[in-house]
Amino acid sequence: MSPTLATDWWLDRADSLRDLAQTGTPRYVYAADILRRQARSLRTLGVFDRVLYAVKANAHPGVLGVFHEEGLGFECVSPAEVKRVLGLFPDLDRRHVLFTPNFVPREEYEWALAEGVRVTVDNLYPLEAWPEVFAGREVFVRLDPGQGRGHHDHVRTAGRRSKFGIDLDDLGRLAEAVREAGVRVTGLHAHVGSGVDAPDSWAETAEVLAAAAEWFPDVQVLDLGGGLPVPSHPGAPPFDLERAATLLHDLRQRRPDFQFWTEPGRFLAAESGVLLCRVTQTKDKGGVRYVGLDAGMNTLVRPAMYGAHHPIANLSRLGEEALHPTEVVGMICESGDAFGHDIPLPETREGDVIAIGTVGAYGASMASHYNLREPATESLLD
Ligand SMILES: Cc1ncc(COP(=O)(O)O)c(C=O)c1O
Repeated sequence: MSPTLATDWWLDRADSLRDLAQTGTPRYVYAADILRRQARSLRTLGVFDRVLYAVKANAHPGVLGVFHEEGLGFECVSPAEVKRVLGLFPDLDRRHVLFTPNFVPREEYEWALAEGVRVTVDNLYPLEAWPEVFAGREVFVRLDPGQGRGHHDHVRTAGRRSKFGIDLDDLGRLAEAVREAGVRVTGLHAHVGSGVDAPDSWAETAEVLAAAAEWFPDVQVLDLGGGLPVPSHPGAPPFDLERAATLLHDLRQRRPDFQFWTEPGRFLAAESGVLLCRVTQTKDKGGVRYVGLDAGMNTLVRPAMYGAHHPIANLSRLGEEALHPTEVVGMICESGDAFGHDIPLPETREGDVIAIGTVGAYGASMASHYNLREPATESLLD
């Protein structure tokens, strides 16, 4: 079997997961207790006035339900995400829903403002080209603090060459556009990237936003975005959440006039998820051992897209000696269609149940119909 991982709840529950796999694979399974654990670890840190969940990470109704019960708000990037949370939770205070779109047409802002959810503007264009849409409204503004961070180029969402946010050099022009349009900026927002493992990232972002707030007298909220990392390798040191909170705490004490918000996706959802697959075929070619699964990059694209590491284990043969470094691949016609390389697996046979871990975020939500294959089914283990 693979070495035991930091995130191995699914190895402890292998029996029930094997039973679940009988009902069909590929299947994403999410553990409600892990979702709750993650939500509580952030809420009890004591540095955030509000925690929003980034819905794009995983919009499964069961997952959203757990976070709603835990008192989280929601950060949404499309009208469909907003409609999903409002449809599921009609009692939800709409001011706890933040719509943070990027390069969307004017109608999406009009729609969101009419729905009464909070809206983030991340470009000067909407304010300068359509001032009448925002006149008399409150908005959050997304700034680009100048430097992106994260585990891969594709997830760094600030700095030169990033399409997100407003440049700090444009604050004067932004203040002018806001004044002209008769808009109140009540929140400043930044999200610098995903999988950011620097504990000073929150504090650094917060300092930039607090300084920028000098331009906007109505600012009440500093939203520091998401981006907390998740351990994926065995033995990887866990992120020092307490240290990150302590660094932010300093600013909080100096600036009691601001509320501090955060909006993670991956940290809240990733560890709760496991993808159950079955072995379709094996192959030995050129000295390489392949194990093929009844899933593919259409089911889970992170390894192909970001070179992301996900733990993999053969649930049908737990406890058996790992004999082969194995290429674990899918059934999509792309050479990048692999879930893991050199994975230590025992002798593995057709029909075995393979589990891929840490897939609760950006797994099912990024699935596609590529090759006209159906995405995996999903269920919540409560
Ligand atoms: C604006 C915004 N907020 C929050 C997130 C969540 O990021 P993560 O899942 O890394 O916490 C993202 C991710 O793309 C984002 O774009």
